[in-house]
Amino acid sequence: MPNKIAVVGSNMVDLITYYSERMPKLGETIEAPNFEIGCGGKGSNQAVAAAKLGSDVMMITKVGDDLFGDNTFKNYSNNGINTKHVEIVPNTSSGVAPIFVDPSGENSIIIVKGANACLKPSDIDAAAEDLKKCNLIIMQLEVPLDVIYHTIEFGVKNNIETLLNPAPAAKELQLDRINEATFFVPNETELESITNMPVGTIEEITAAAKYLNTQGIRDVIVTMGSKGALLVNQIEVTLIEPCKVDPVDTTGAGDAFIGSFSHYYLQENKDVKKALKIAALYAANSIQKKGTQISYATKEEFSLINNAH
Ligand code: RIB
Repeated sequence: MPNKIAVVGSNMVDLITYYSERMPKLGETIEAPNFEIGCGGKGSNQAVAAAKLGSDVMMITKVGDDLFGDNTFKNYSNNGINTKHVEIVPNTSSGVAPIFVDPSGENSIIIVKGANACLKPSDIDAAAEDLKKCNLIIMQLEVPLDVIYHTIEFGVKNNIETLLNPAPAAKELQLDRINEATFFVPNETELESITNMPVGTIEEITAAAKYLNTQGIRDVIVTMGSKGALLVNQIEVTLIEPCKVDPVDTTGAGDAFIGSFSHYYLQENKDVKKALKIAALYAANSIQKKGTQISYATKEEFSLINNAH
């Protein structure tokens, strides 16, 4: 039986510009050589990564009543993702994300939430019977915060583990309403913004994550890009070493990490460190290709890479 994962999160259309030397100044026009369009959104990216690896994934999201929405449905179906709880919002655009990738592969993103902003706590209640069959529920912050709070409460009440990726960071995130999530997975920028603490060194990152432990968040996993990842809880601080590669496009690497971590956490009998190590390899593989979801390896492709490692 495959792992059952639900993603309560976003879908976006990624409009990606390669490779802009810099961002334009106010009133300035600059040129970049390439443009690509793809399926994105942090929620969908994480769902697709887990589904490509073989998890049984259900998506809870809203799309606009436009061509982008139709395309998102097609994309879910191509990846074997259950769309029973994906709804079209009338007279609303789908979420879009203009993305600018620089020559070093680093990205800058603007999101327009569109229909994603219409997800409501009642959508979680409407999906309750299907959610109760899941082993893990994954969330990000591209949907309204009251949906996140409600989903974590739902997880606690029904004994279902939850993972919150607080991306993009929201200053107004109430820690006492998310501290019962099983895993809290920020990157360094999000950690800094949520804790108001410096994150310039591993020691500072550890201190900020430990502060979250004191707020009741049990397992904090900080993704640190080329520095690897840090697991911080009351018992241990463990550095997951990075896999060194030359990045082509880092867009969606954090999502590849979370989707694959979720898959392997369930597949490897909840061995967190083992799952984190495999996720680091999966994410590193994704940044060697252009695009977000299209850069994620399938189960077959990744088994070759993982076995060779
Ligand atoms: O994390 C990368 C994602 O952020 C992109 O796919 C974009 O859609 C934004 O949601």
